[in-house]
Amino acid sequence: MQTLQSIFSILFFSFTFLFLLSALLIKVLSLSCRRYCDCEVCRDYLTGSWMTQFPNLADWYAHLLCNSPTGTIHIHVLNNVVTANPANAEHMLKTNFHNYPKGKRFSVILGDLLGNGIFTADGRAWHSQRKAASLALGGASVRKHAFDVVTNEVKTQLVPLLSSVQGSVDLQEVFSRFAFSTICKISFGLDPEEMELPLPLSEYIAAFDSASRLSALRATVAIPFVWKLKRFLNIGSEKELKHAIKMVNELATAVIVTRRKLDSKNNHDFLSRVMQTTDGEAMDDLYLRDVVVSFLLAGRDTVASGLAAFFLLLSKNPSALCTIREEISHVTKGKTDYEMSHDDIKSMHYMHAALHESMRLIPPVPFDSKFAAGDDTLPDGTEIAKGTRVTCHSYAMARMKSVWGPDCKEFRPERWLGKDGVFKPESPFKYPVFQAGLRVCLGRELALMEMKNVIVSVLREFDVEVVLKDGDLPRFAPGLTTSFKGGIPVSISRR
Ligand code: HEM
Repeated sequence: MQTLQSIFSILFFSFTFLFLLSALLIKVLSLSCRRYCDCEVCRDYLTGSWMTQFPNLADWYAHLLCNSPTGTIHIHVLNNVVTANPANAEHMLKTNFHNYPKGKRFSVILGDLLGNGIFTADGRAWHSQRKAASLALGGASVRKHAFDVVTNEVKTQLVPLLSSVQGSVDLQEVFSRFAFSTICKISFGLDPEEMELPLPLSEYIAAFDSASRLSALRATVAIPFVWKLKRFLNIGSEKELKHAIKMVNELATAVIVTRRKLDSKNNHDFLSRVMQTTDGEAMDDLYLRDVVVSFLLAGRDTVASGLAAFFLLLSKNPSALCTIREEISHVTKGKTDYEMSHDDIKSMHYMHAALHESMRLIPPVPFDSKFAAGDDTLPDGTEIAKGTRVTCHSYAMARMKSVWGPDCKEFRPERWLGKDGVFKPESPFKYPVFQAGLRVCLGRELALMEMKNVIVSVLREFDVEVVLKDGDLPRFAPGLTTSFKGGIPVSISRR
């Protein structure tokens, strides 16, 4: 009798479980069917057939956008409008800014990694973080401190490291380590080596990369329920992401603890300033954790990516390399790296142009998305329904003849120079590499100073030869910022 009762209970619970699971699946399928679309673009996206013709998703999008009369496309299965039209960029980033917040869906995708930091925040929370960040990054003393940190880091870390290379080295990895150490010193006022961590630092850096890659992956799936279910069940990529975020949190905690142990008063770093200027916000560890993670993401990956792309493109453009070297010798006239001032670096117009040109073609942040808060119409006539993801695609915009002319795909620093050889900036909506409008990047000047400092020292001291095969097209790894699958292998020799 007892056995019969047990069998009956097992059967009953199994049926109930299966019934609930089927009901859930039907609900999910009916929701996704509403977005199901059989148009050619959606079919190519879902089947991945674009991969037979294009090395990267960004190249396929660029192709579609170049062929669209408005410079805008709609990937229906992702409910995503993608635009490479500067007028649309200006509309969403400035004129109708309030209709294009990051939105709840953005923080659902990136919130596990970025928390409520500046990159996911909207409204008042964003406003107060932006105010604190621009105060901390904008002052003359901070700029001087940052310049000194970068100069020292280049001289004592980067140059010796490159000098010690025998054979080939991955330049992307070198710049990534350099940018990590530099941003820790500038933003948190600490040497990453002085933090007490249970595991080697390199494992935390790798965890940071995985967390960024796996978080970005969430945004590419047509049915978000899939990753949410995986997160709930703690399986597959979501299990991996959870572990990576745990390590990122350990790293952020180590930064906060070390910073607290050191005296924060009279310190120029960003974290110390945030700890001092509370502006009514609760300065708890969770808030500080979000600040640390956001600044690591903002300041490390972008700079490393921009530098790696610069050296990749320069290796294919020897005449630009020659012109930059001439400019460097002309401006520095035999000064050592330590004797060079920020003004010396600022006066190198051709190098500034070449760096803008490389980031135009390979932007460190290839696209940027917002979610429409209400129905709207873009300047090119595209209808936007509330809740649609609207993406401004910098990578594709660089490849639009209508925006950059018939030579848009060429690396041509001269397009940034006036007849007098002086750098001539472009509209930020045509070049949204640092974003534009109200949420424009706050670290632009810092990033440019850091990258140019590195470029001057490396080009003065070394010959860098990229050892990718000639026909190899760069393939990007998935992530929040541009990085190259397999890195950028180079051989280095002293000049
Ligand atoms: C080549 C280097 C860099 C590039 C290309 C770049 C690009 C960008 C882009 C595209 C955004 C908008 C992101 C979004 O809204 O989702 C952004 C925002 C931001 N960037 Fe940068 N960035 C760079 C370096 C830096 C550095 C070194 C810092 C500071 C340490 C920094 C601090 C910030 C901050 C705080 C924001 C948030 C602005 C806001 O939402 O109000 N960036 N950056």
